[in-house]
Amino acid sequence: MTRLGARRHWLALVVLFGAGTATAGDVSFENDVLPLLTVRCVMCHMDGADQAHLSLYPDAWSHLVGIPSTQSPLKRVEAALPDKSYLYLKLMGTHLDAGGSGLRMPVQQDALGADELTLIRTWIAQGALQN
Ligand code: HEC
Repeated sequence: MTRLGARRHWLALVVLFGAGTATAGDVSFENDVLPLLTVRCVMCHMDGADQAHLSLYPDAWSHLVGIPSTQSPLKRVEAALPDKSYLYLKLMGTHLDAGGSGLRMPVQQDALGADELTLIRTWIAQGALQN
């Protein structure tokens, strides 16, 4: 009985910890999303070298949120709706199912990791704020 109780307590702690790190509270565009885009995307998507007419430097937010994709009927980022945001589908590699074209981003590089995809998804789900 005591052993079972202790085990339950331990499991509850693990669940609490897991939930805390997985959701990680509010995502910041400036502090969380932008650094990722800068490292992984800007070399091909910047003013003067904007593949698919998408520039992520020097002003990424204004070229993403509410802006029509050049490749699909979707917006690049539809605030609060990650599954309707072409940017997110392009990173997942599911963009062809949404009437898009071309390759998974970033082209010819490793896909973003699960944590990074969750970060982008959460940012969009939280309203794609310029925060
Ligand atoms: C090596 C160059 C390269 C890198 C790095 C790259 N892209 Fe691209 N991107 C392209 C090219 C070329 C296209 C157009 C052809 C295609 O879609 O395959 C494109 C198209 C896109 C589009 C479609 C734009 C639209 O309006 O429909 C999105 C969204 C996009 N990229 C996002 C990203 C993101 C986010 C990253 C970083 C995670 C990234 N790309 C990294 C070259 C790149």
